[in-house]
Amino acid sequence: MNIDSYRNEHKAILREAGNLGRLLSNTVENSSKIVKLLFKIDQILEVHFAKEDGILYPAFIDSANPNNSKVGEMFLSEMGGVEEAWSFFLSRWNVAAKIEEDEERFKVEVDAVFQEIKGRIEAEDSILFPLCSKI
Ligand SMILES: [Fe+2]
Repeated sequence: MNIDSYRNEHKAILREAGNLGRLLSNTVENSSKIVKLLFKIDQILEVHFAKEDGILYPAFIDSANPNNSKVGEMFLSEMGGVEEAWSFFLSRWNVAAKIEEDEERFKVEVDAVFQEIKGRIEAEDSILFPLCSKI
């Protein structure tokens, strides 16, 4: 299976996370730009999670190789929470005024959700993607 698009999306997500990190140096002043960027990241994540949860993970689960099948099941059950965490995060911080009102809380939550996203990306890059040539 060719996974170039998945790898490119990972790069795009990490690049935008870096851009977001720079805006966090002045959260209140950059609040509108931050919200705009969160929605840009959401567009990438929405497509990406749908492809992984709907195509890539099931392809592993359906693999004739029992080890790959187990890996696919593990990712499907363990990584679904990342998408939920992101949706919940975005629903809380979808307006600039909310960020301005509770800057400290926002910083804690933005760090936490991106840690989860980066964890998923790292696990896929190191465990899942190297197996893709075999499914
Ligand atoms: Fe991914």
